[in-house]
Amino acid sequence: MLHTFAVNTGGLLNLQHYKITKTMSKISVIGAGNVGASCAEYIAMKDFAAEVVLLDIKENFAEGKALDLMQCATTNGFNTRISGSTNDYSKTAGSDVVVITSGIPRKPGMTREELIGVNAGIVKTVCENVLKHSPNAIIVVVSNPMDTMTYLALKSTGLPKNRIIGMGGILDSSRFRTYLGAALNCPSNDVDGMVIGGHGDTTMIPLTRLASYKGVPASQFASDDTLAKVKSDTMVGGATLTGMLGTSAWYAPGASVAALVHSIVSDQKKMFPCCVYLDGEYGQNDICIGVPVIIGKNGWESIVNLDLNDAEKAEFAKSADAVRNMNSVLGA
Ligand code: LAC
Repeated sequence: MLHTFAVNTGGLLNLQHYKITKTMSKISVIGAGNVGASCAEYIAMKDFAAEVVLLDIKENFAEGKALDLMQCATTNGFNTRISGSTNDYSKTAGSDVVVITSGIPRKPGMTREELIGVNAGIVKTVCENVLKHSPNAIIVVVSNPMDTMTYLALKSTGLPKNRIIGMGGILDSSRFRTYLGAALNCPSNDVDGMVIGGHGDTTMIPLTRLASYKGVPASQFASDDTLAKVKSDTMVGGATLTGMLGTSAWYAPGASVAALVHSIVSDQKKMFPCCVYLDGEYGQNDICIGVPVIIGKNGWESIVNLDLNDAEKAEFAKSADAVRNMNSVLGA
């Protein structure tokens, strides 16, 4: 996926040879609904991939989205080629990363967990089709309930654990930082914070104690009540949007996926909270759940151990219990 080009700069710079490491990656996005199309758009806008293939089961739908997006290339100045396909997985062949957004989104009043029956069958079939044509791909799971779908993708494919990444924590952290910035009356880019645990209204854990404003603990700028409100608003952040939009959100999910994919294909080694398989870390086994990881060309490359206090550890254990409960539905 990484190609190195030696560039001869001629006589201009003393005949020095410069090495430019450039990515020429192929990304496939399965499901061309709002989230999938938004992923494709943000990936193209960042211009780090050679090619994005959108795939959907609805006749001509992905082709239409791809054509519409391609007609932004000259205006927005990106070079990524975007194409669409109606369920023809051969078009996704040789992908470096495959993003799975397939399945039904939630409607107002629904939890992510209620989608499990329908989406489990879809995600399993999608994984099989994807791997037939891209046996070396890193798989990013977005479909809900995301923690369980990530676990299912790992178990049903038997892929090495580092190649299956659930995207939820990046999105939840961006919502956390947005609410925190508003509470502190400062740009959200000036605040840092992370959400770990499950990607559910009751399972996610916005870590207010570790949140900061330019490295200074957020607790110096906001009362406990304010931070508690930021935390609870974050936890229902997705549900709030579903209530307003009538369906799941898509801009922030798409942007979050693009940031994750960028770190993979450009081997950026960024730290993001992602849903990954735990094998003893954080006191948990045989579960996929959100923890901070380093993301690079091998997928998730290592888990970052946070020094959680007792209350946070208890929250994490409770979140894991809920995710494990949900996973048990898969075997039923
Ligand atoms: C959300 C969906 C993508 O949280 O899970 O908006």
